[in-house]
Amino acid sequence: MSHDPAKTARIDFEPAGVEVQTIPGESILDSARRAKVRIASACGGRGICKSCIIHFTGGDIPPPSANDRDFFSSSKLGRGWRRACQCSAIGDSRIHVPARARAESARMQVDGSEFWVQPEPLVEICTIELTRPSLAYPKADFDRLVDRLSMEKGSREWTIDPETLRSLPATLRRNHWLVQVVIFENEIIAIQPTQTRLVGLAVDLGTTNIGIFLVDLHSGNTIASTGIENPQGIYGSDVISRIGTAAQHPEKATEMHRLVVDAINQAATSMCEAHQLATDQIVDIVVAGNTAMHHLFTRLPVRGLGLAPFTPVITRAMDFKAREICLKSAPGARIHMIPNIAGFVGGDHTAMLIGISAHTESRTIVALDIGTNTEISLLHQGTITSLSCPSGPALEGGHISCGMRASTGAIEAISIAGDSLRIKTIGDTDPIGLCGSAVVDATAAFFLAGGLNHRGKIARDYRHTVLQ
Ligand code: FES
Repeated sequence: MSHDPAKTARIDFEPAGVEVQTIPGESILDSARRAKVRIASACGGRGICKSCIIHFTGGDIPPPSANDRDFFSSSKLGRGWRRACQCSAIGDSRIHVPARARAESARMQVDGSEFWVQPEPLVEICTIELTRPSLAYPKADFDRLVDRLSMEKGSREWTIDPETLRSLPATLRRNHWLVQVVIFENEIIAIQPTQTRLVGLAVDLGTTNIGIFLVDLHSGNTIASTGIENPQGIYGSDVISRIGTAAQHPEKATEMHRLVVDAINQAATSMCEAHQLATDQIVDIVVAGNTAMHHLFTRLPVRGLGLAPFTPVITRAMDFKAREICLKSAPGARIHMIPNIAGFVGGDHTAMLIGISAHTESRTIVALDIGTNTEISLLHQGTITSLSCPSGPALEGGHISCGMRASTGAIEAISIAGDSLRIKTIGDTDPIGLCGSAVVDATAAFFLAGGLNHRGKIARDYRHTVLQ
């Protein structure tokens, strides 16, 4: 059937049961993104992975792209299999998204062995009681506040966050002139009722997952923590895909930034609500992430990270107001970005080095931060040497025909016992693919069964009832 490429078409996505009207020329992957239908896109739509496989089960089936002709067998192409980033709708159609392409990240572990550190928050508080203004004493609210603050904390060049200043008159009067002043250096960043619990937010901004921690700044205890999937995953599961997309399409860089901020806001709001806190009690925020996540979060250009010599815009620590990026918090709360080390060794690794007190360590140590991007440091004789390597594809079964991320239905463990092959899937459901740990297990099982030699080569003439 001929189709006018300037016309839109209707797609029914199954099993989501979502219908979307296409924008002429957009890929099926883009249509799915707009409709919030999940289709994995490990390479970010560059046509070099196997994650966005879809099945046209009805309606007009687009002809396969040259790329897909190389990728699928002719029988699969004939039955309507395509990759979502490699085709566009040519008319109304029905598409089934297979379980493997719909898989969400299931393992998001944020707990670990915590060790207590003496809290030294950058913000300080001061409880202040002001005299009411009168005809005899009509001094401005802010001036009276500063006078009292100077008496309590000593004379400084006091400033006040403009948003905090706007709400100052109402806050003072509502609290009968007795308030808790929150200070960062010389700036008043919030005015609160007395005894308001001070809360900090710590964010571990990973490529695949985001760890979010609500911390009591008085005690240093973690009030709540949660792990969420990084929603930027729709633009590729690795940093290179996202850097490429963001560098080529500034509007997508903005979208990636917005997705992460929205996700953190949502998670922080639910954690606060669960603990009878308000998000405006968050007075300080620290964010650590790899350099690409750092740049996308702070809306810095990422082009330099995608081209040799992979130059970041900044490696130093950054400080800015949370409201500049609409992150929910107290009006003048700041975000502190942990400094990066290099283009692919980011603030998350710096945080780990701080966490293990690398600067005071005298032993020779190898420290690994294994994630989608793995960073490794060698601590030796007072010198720290760091490097990084991508490991996400290995962890998520990338470049394997049945590979998938660690989600429900993924085989996560494999062993051979005698003549039987044992598998374990996440969620104990029917298997739909293999995640990285299964690949490691399969290799080990194959080796133990004599199918692999010590160099990883498949043994010649190997025969086993389980492994063929
Ligand atoms: S091939 Fe389509 S997202 Fe990778």
